Amino acid sequence: MTTLATINNLVITRDTPAFIIASAIPGAARVFTRNRMDWCCKGLMSLGNHCAEVGADPIAFLEEIADEAASAPTGPNWAAKSTPELVAHILTFHEAHRRDLPELSAMITELAVTQGERRPVLRELAAAFPTFMAETYHHLEMEERDLFPPIAAGETAGLAALIRRLRDEHEGHDHRLVAFRDWCEDYRTLRRFAYPLPNDPDRPINALHLRLEGFEADLMEHMHLENNLLFPRLQPGA
Ligand SMILES: [Fe+2]
Ligand SMILES: [Fe+2]
Repeated sequence: MTTLATINNLVITRDTPAFIIASAIPGAARVFTRNRMDWCCKGLMSLGNHCAEVGADPIAFLEEIADEAASAPTGPNWAAKSTPELVAHILTFHEAHRRDLPELSAMITELAVTQGERRPVLRELAAAFPTFMAETYHHLEMEERDLFPPIAAGETAGLAALIRRLRDEHEGHDHRLVAFRDWCEDYRTLRRFAYPLPNDPDRPINALHLRLEGFEADLMEHMHLENNLLFPRLQPGA
């Protein structure tokens, strides 16, 4: 298979799975998400198939990744960490989501009231967000109650059904993130208003989009750590 690019020592072909690229190259995950490629729940799908699905040119896409990688900070290689270290890291995302979700909900509720007339999509977002929050909290609790304790005790034999359910819920979260992205104009205000003026009426929208895009990146990374690194260790082939 022809090499399309080598970025940060990773040799990439059309067959390279998306999650390998997204987890090995700093900043690559952002580029996948920005191009609406689900590198997390569809992490095993090849680069070539992801590009075909959204009509992207693989070479141009990899150039975008190389540009992003040039300025992105490098992080630890979680694939090489022990399972207890991986779980401890995953729990930092649970903590972050529990901090972020109520703050995001408050921002959305306020903006739906103050700007809902001008931007009706904010009302749709405000109507959908409580369900998303409740689903996410329930998901985090289920993992903390039913998944992590058996892992800590080394009793992972009966987890197949739970892992299937968690993977399905991750896909549900991903669909909601895509809907939020749709409603928020692909977070393009972030680029339009890189330096918003204090009295700009779009300043609060810009702040919301910034927070939501950050939350999206965190949740995608979190689901990737579970789908592509943790679950396969517990259930080879799952
Ligand atoms: Fe989790
Ligand atoms: Fe999860």
